[in-house]
Amino acid sequence: MDEKELMLSIRKIVDEAMEQLGKIQDGEGLEKWRIQYFGRKGTFASMTGRIPQMAVEIRPRAGALINDAKGQLTEAFEQKKTLLTQQGHKRTEHAVNFSLPGLRPETGTLHPVTLVSREIVRIFQGLGFGVHVGPEIETDFYNFEALNMPADHPARDMWDTFYLDPERKFLLRTHTSPVQIRIMEKISVPLRIIAIGKTFRRDDFDASHSPVFHQVEGLMVGHDITFSNLKAVLIFFLKELFGTRVKVRFLPSYFPFTEPSAEISISCVICDGRGCQTCGSTGWLEILGAGMVHPEVFRKSGIRQKNITGFAFGAGLERITMIKYGIDDIRQFYTGDIRFLKQFG
Ligand code: DAH
Repeated sequence: MDEKELMLSIRKIVDEAMEQLGKIQDGEGLEKWRIQYFGRKGTFASMTGRIPQMAVEIRPRAGALINDAKGQLTEAFEQKKTLLTQQGHKRTEHAVNFSLPGLRPETGTLHPVTLVSREIVRIFQGLGFGVHVGPEIETDFYNFEALNMPADHPARDMWDTFYLDPERKFLLRTHTSPVQIRIMEKISVPLRIIAIGKTFRRDDFDASHSPVFHQVEGLMVGHDITFSNLKAVLIFFLKELFGTRVKVRFLPSYFPFTEPSAEISISCVICDGRGCQTCGSTGWLEILGAGMVHPEVFRKSGIRQKNITGFAFGAGLERITMIKYGIDDIRQFYTGDIRFLKQFG
């Protein structure tokens, strides 16, 4: 190869390389190009490798030509690299839209049953009722016996019970009524209290039953407390909770621990008493059990004074919450689904 041929072949390589470089779109293509020409087995390496086979006179010239070509292409390479980096920045600027709202971390809300229980506490505190709690694990005595249900009393069937021992001495309380006994043992008359907490029943989990739910219990005991006091307190409570438009209905009922006993309903808040699916076309929603404390309950609680009377009531918090917010399935409360829960906070 003479000097002229060498010059031409180097020129051709440079032209081709420049053309390829012009078409490169990204860093990956650029790197491939660099390896093709400048890599260990690249074009320039093999050209340099061939110099020793050339005629001695043209060797220095060949070296110089190859170095020129390398210099030219290196410069072009650096320029291209800068260009691609700038374009890349432009593209990312475009991809990030700073005017979009950011991702907010989810904040918690109070559970609807908590909201309702706080509202109930507020109403009864306003009437001078104290707020108490009792144990979730109870004895047979407090859950049944002291509430006028001796062993084998048929009314025990009203509550399907989780027993904790083979002797059936310990159980998960089936209602908050045992707190009545614990309070009367502890606090002297006159007294007025509510108790809120978890209760447990061996019920199947369905749209209206859960094996764990919450109740609110109320108890007012003093001299000459009458059924009129019961009515006044509960009508006030229900109108505070559901609005003054609701009507309140009292029907005779049966509980072993009250005499007389009543079942209390409000006019349906969904259809305003006209009759709908929620109230089973009756126009009424049953919401509370209540009555005048049975003398046997006083006796079992150690209250022996004369002229002491009282009233008590109990209600399910989930049921109240479902009616208040129009929720049709009790299981919603326990899913922990944030989309459900955040509608109430
Ligand atoms: N403990 C009853 C239940 O779970 C509800 C109840 C009814 C409570 C009448 C009372 C009451 O205090 O007087 O079904």
